[in-house]
Order: sequence, then C-alpha cells, then structure tokens
Amino acid sequence: MRSFIIDCDTAEDDVASIFLLARNKMRIAGVTIVEGNIGFDQEVTNALWALEKVNVDAPVFPGSRRPIVKDFTTVEEVHGKYGLGEIQATTFRKPSQKHAAQAIIDVSNELGEELEILAISPLTNLAMAYLLDPSLPKRVKKVWIMGGTAFAHGNITPVAEYNFWVDPDAAKIVFKAGFDITMVPWDVVTQYTINDEEWNEIINMKTQLSEIYVKMFSHYRKYDKDVQKLDGHPHPDLITTAVAINQGIIEESRHEFVAIDNSDSLTRGMSLIDHLDSDRPWSSSPNAEIVYKIKKRILLEMIKEMLS
Ligand code: BDR
Ligand code: CA
Repeated sequence: MRSFIIDCDTAEDDVASIFLLARNKMRIAGVTIVEGNIGFDQEVTNALWALEKVNVDAPVFPGSRRPIVKDFTTVEEVHGKYGLGEIQATTFRKPSQKHAAQAIIDVSNELGEELEILAISPLTNLAMAYLLDPSLPKRVKKVWIMGGTAFAHGNITPVAEYNFWVDPDAAKIVFKAGFDITMVPWDVVTQYTINDEEWNEIINMKTQLSEIYVKMFSHYRKYDKDVQKLDGHPHPDLITTAVAINQGIIEESRHEFVAIDNSDSLTRGMSLIDHLDSDRPWSSSPNAEIVYKIKKRILLEMIKEMLS
C-alpha cells in the first residue's frame, strides 16, 4: 500500500483530493495544514471533517500559519467563507499537537523512503521540514506538486498561480532541495474543466459524496465562470492527486528546469520553465517533471468512481 502525506489549505478541491486518496485505498499517513485559501483554523476543521466523511482515521497536523517571508491574503471570494462553498464544516475530531514540518520529518523516518508527499497548497510546511532536516529529499520517494503555471497564465495575478504566489520563497527552497518532483501547473488544469453536461451528470448521481461535491463546488464553479472566464470549474488539486495515484492519466510531460520568482515585483510567484534546450545563465539541469496534458476520460472515470 502506498503512503501519502497530503499538505492542504483545505478548500473544496483539497477535500476532494482527500476523498480521492481514500477511495483509491491509498494510506493517508497524515494531513498537514498550511496557510492559504481561508482562515487557518477552518482549514484544520475542514480536513478533520473530510476524513470523517470517508471514515479515515488519519492524524491532522497544523503547520505554518503564514509564509516564510512575505505577507499573503486568503481568498474566501474564490471558495466561500468557510472554504467549502455552501457547506460549513464542523467536527468533534481534534488535530494533533505536533507541527506539520516535524510530522513530515517523523513520518519520513518511520516509512524509510516509502513516503510520497502530495503538496497541493503553498509550500511553506515542506520548505520548513527541509530546512529542519536537509536529508529529507533523500528519504522522500516522490513529491507531487500543484502549483505554478507553464505558460504564465495565472489566477491570483496575471502571471502567478496562488500556491506559489502565497509563498514564493518556500517554492524556491523546495524546487532547489533535490526532491523528485512532478508539477501540475494551473494553466494546464484549466484545459480540463467540468463542463455543464458533466456537472449535470454528477448532480444526477445523488450519492452521499456526489451531494457533498455539488454543494462544495457550486460557489467555486460560479467564481471560475464569472471571474476566471472558464467554461466550468477546474480541479487543480484533484488532478494532481489523480496523477499521483495513476500516472497512466498523463498524456504528455517533460523534465525541465523550473525557477520561481520570489522578488517583490509584478511577477512575484511566477514560475519560469526553461523550454529552450540552451545554457542560459539562470538555467540549470531539470528539477521537475512538468505535466502538460492529461487524459480527461480517465479523470472523469476517477471522479465518478470516487463519488459512487
Ligand atoms: C490552488 O490554490 C487554491 O485555490 C487551490 O486549493 C489550489 O491548490 C490553485 O491555484
Ligand atoms: Ca490547495
């Protein structure tokens, strides 16, 4: 059985990712929480609630409440006041007292090179874990990252994706650390939105999880259509999770060098991928596999199976 830590700023697509891991019988060794989409304490509650919904008894480790250097803003307008659209999650479950960064180190020691990290949020916790223990990349089998853009088409600024924009310093640290990274960019996942026909099919499923899905994503869907001008809602975190579970979903990927702009400028948080086969002064050997295309048919099958 494969073992994952899933690092969340728990809004609707982070919750869907927890559901997908659980329904695919992946072991969730821990859910670590990081600053991001909404108020931190609600993110913790949402993760505990999500685990309860799929009957998984995994520990939740609260981590960093802010980026390493820069200030950031939450985005309730994107995900709803409590991060889950129409749902206000509550739970009697309690989080662990251990900090997320320490939990990542401890779990990686316990699992001896079997741990995979699903990093679908700002990278502060993972950067902190690496700074505490620089031998971490040698022990972690794989890091699956949702973040950045491939073609500089952002969602929080014209050129930056939210997760990298929130903590570009952490992203820079993680991409330089030597982890085995697969990165799923924002402007790739926007090609695979859930269109009206697919949305209606999910509405008609009428299972416990499909009803949660519809309530969670209705607000995000409206925002994506009205503001991002997409033809439905995308699944940044869920696609990254699907890629982690089943690499057969990848249609096209390349190993390339990714740099992250952590300057205080118009391009803060932008990811720059070296598409050229050249020896530029800022470039270097590949530090990540970038996913450029996936098979939508497999994504839809995985979503429907998860909700069935
Ligand atoms: C990412 O930012 C958040 O809004 C989502 O949870 C996702 O991880 C998309 O840019
Ligand atoms: Ca996220």
